Amino acid sequence: LSLLSVASEVFPLIKTGGLADVAGALPLALAEHDIAVRTLMPGYPDVMRQIGSGDALCRFDDLFGGPAVVIGTTLGGLDLLVLDAPHLYDRSGGPYVTAGGFDHPDNWARFAALSKAGAAIAQGAIPGFLPDIVQAHDWQAALTPVYLAVSNRPRPKTVVTVHNLAFQGSYPSSIFASLGLPDTAWSIEGVEYYGNVGYLKGGLHAADLVTTVSPTYADEILTPAGGMGLDGLLRGRGDRLVGIVNGIDTSVWDPQTDPAIACHYSSRALKARTHNKRALEGEFGLRREDGPILAVVSRLTWQKGLDLVAEACDAIVARGARVVVVGSGESAIEGQFLAAHARNPDRVGVRIGYDETLSHRVQAGADAILIPSRFEPCGLTQLYGLRYGCIPFVSKVGGLADTVIDANHAAASAGVATGVIFGPPTGPALMAGVDRALRLYADPKGWRSMQVSAMNADVSWRASARIYADLFRDLTRE
Ligand code: ADP
Ligand code: GLC
Repeated sequence: LSLLSVASEVFPLIKTGGLADVAGALPLALAEHDIAVRTLMPGYPDVMRQIGSGDALCRFDDLFGGPAVVIGTTLGGLDLLVLDAPHLYDRSGGPYVTAGGFDHPDNWARFAALSKAGAAIAQGAIPGFLPDIVQAHDWQAALTPVYLAVSNRPRPKTVVTVHNLAFQGSYPSSIFASLGLPDTAWSIEGVEYYGNVGYLKGGLHAADLVTTVSPTYADEILTPAGGMGLDGLLRGRGDRLVGIVNGIDTSVWDPQTDPAIACHYSSRALKARTHNKRALEGEFGLRREDGPILAVVSRLTWQKGLDLVAEACDAIVARGARVVVVGSGESAIEGQFLAAHARNPDRVGVRIGYDETLSHRVQAGADAILIPSRFEPCGLTQLYGLRYGCIPFVSKVGGLADTVIDANHAAASAGVATGVIFGPPTGPALMAGVDRALRLYADPKGWRSMQVSAMNADVSWRASARIYADLFRDLTRE
């Protein structure tokens, strides 16, 4: 089977969050099931630098205001199709925001272009390549199935994978005329969404299949509370919506070989992990104490519930734990953490920014990773935590609830617990959870057994890749 994946970020080339990890790792996992994936992504400056010169596979004379070339290359086992369109992607800032932190004003064109190129490739724009399936990730790629649905030429089956329903790509109706869609697409069946153009909405409607990144999130988004306005549409899709948990690339995240960490270790040689804790204390200038280090590696946003941790910092420290934070995002939350650091300089360590290798050292050295999300489609940091014996401390939502086994009495006595789950995501519940985690930590044998169970949990892509592969095969048989 051959599959075209369309994504706005792909690890290791460019990453702002979990989407990149998934778009970078799933193709490798699907290869094991004889599904050959080619990945179309934008040619941001960072990406162009890394791919060097490749083969020009097809051209567009005018793709949203300028010429574009699709460059084919391979990198780290990925078969890449890079959309080189300087008028859309050759600029400073990140994939979605300017250096000043505002959305690029023409994001509507930048990602409609990605989707339009994806649809063209899906219908044979690259000689000799006709995929059986197109998988479009999130709103940035979601117009791909829309463009395909309005075409009257043969097309592959289409899948939209929702990584986060909170980001929908909603734009004023005035852009509709520039999308190159027929007038009929301006409708409930098309991209029209409460008077705006909804990229994700259109894709969810047009796709043959919708997947999301955990079974619990798939249930949550069918409710008004979790559906972000799209629950009605999603309910209408019935069994065409499937939740599959993400895996992680266990070769990139492997405490036995990780080049970023001070000391390698395994579930059988856990003592060595202490060196990483000492190194982390050094790196953050933390006072050396007996208590645990509770860590955050995250976007600092309302979704992630980290304002709750920031508010609880003093109380956490007062109970003998230390806190390490690596993240960036809303300036209010950044400020809260910096203030907590100023009050507790040697017990609260804070790095505002994005640092991939530091995130590995945190998972290897901290005792627990805190993820008190208000909603979480899947979450990857708890999976890294499991793999690294950094006990996940998570709220009971979405993929967090699907991937962590709470250390309740039954699980702990059966020796299968892998973390601490608390709920709801509020300050008092968070502190009650912290107290429970600290009691668990105070029993070194129990904690170690939890670490071993965590590290033995299968967080690889193996099980989920099989589910995707079966679904994709069934789809092509319809
Ligand atoms: P989301 O995609 O919603 O941000 P995920 O848990 O799925 O959440 O993925 C987040 C990814 O981004 C993880 O790989 C995490 O390690 C990484 N990450 C988030 N913030 C930072 C940061 N400040 N520095 C390094 N890595 C980060
Ligand atoms: C999104 C979600 C996160 C998920 C990631 C990868 O960014 O917020 O929960 O793990 O996508 O699917």
